Amino acid sequence: MSIIRLETIDSTNLWAKSNLADLPDRTIVSSNRQTSGRGRFNRMWIDLGNDNIFMSFVLKPSSMFKDVYPNLTQYLSVVVTRVLENYGINSQIKWPNDVLVNGKKICGILSETVTQGSNLKGIVLGIGINLNSDLNSLTEIKDKEATSVNIELGCLHVDKLEFEEKLIYEFFRFYDEFLKSGFAMIANEYISKSCFLNKEINVQVFDEIKSGIAEQITDSGELVMDINGLKSVLTMGDILSWKN
Ligand code: BTN
Repeated sequence: MSIIRLETIDSTNLWAKSNLADLPDRTIVSSNRQTSGRGRFNRMWIDLGNDNIFMSFVLKPSSMFKDVYPNLTQYLSVVVTRVLENYGINSQIKWPNDVLVNGKKICGILSETVTQGSNLKGIVLGIGINLNSDLNSLTEIKDKEATSVNIELGCLHVDKLEFEEKLIYEFFRFYDEFLKSGFAMIANEYISKSCFLNKEINVQVFDEIKSGIAEQITDSGELVMDINGLKSVLTMGDILSWKN
């Protein structure tokens, strides 16, 4: 495992993808600033300053795609909740991989797969964590309520290198085992930390909004919804809102 530290970059995911051929498996790319950070569904990921985390894990587990790889985002979300717990912060997961504290987003994850024909060249697992911010800067994030680790800790300054170290350590602690066992390995923990199960939810799936009850998470991490008595199994989407 090695870490590449950059000062300012458009996006650590973009940089990792452009340099993928030269980066060994388990390289971490971390930047102090991101000028063009991207989130899921082509959204922007706003840079809240250099004491926040903008990082990508470069993973090259095999040259053939395996079903477990899309679940790495969920694995990473569970890892983040463990690290936050270590800081005394209780966090929840919004399917598939947002991490929230009291309903406010603190971390986002974006996985991108690079292939050539049927060959998998690598997976770039990007993560942004609001580590040190202030209430005023957080208002720059317009699409949802957000919070940061330092705010949750009562406005202390949180050491970025120490947080990154804990995150990387926790990620690789059970990474090999996760690749072998798949989502089932974390299913109980993921479900116990989920904030949307058994609630009425609205989920954006491509151009459609599906409304119903979030019933279950399958052993492969999919979300089962009950929509007017009919079961719908979602492999991707974005939960826009939920209520009890
Ligand atoms: C989301 O919540 O939509 C995912 C956000 C992912 C943001 C991180 S920051 C580091 C990496 N580089 C990017 O451009 N995006 C990810």
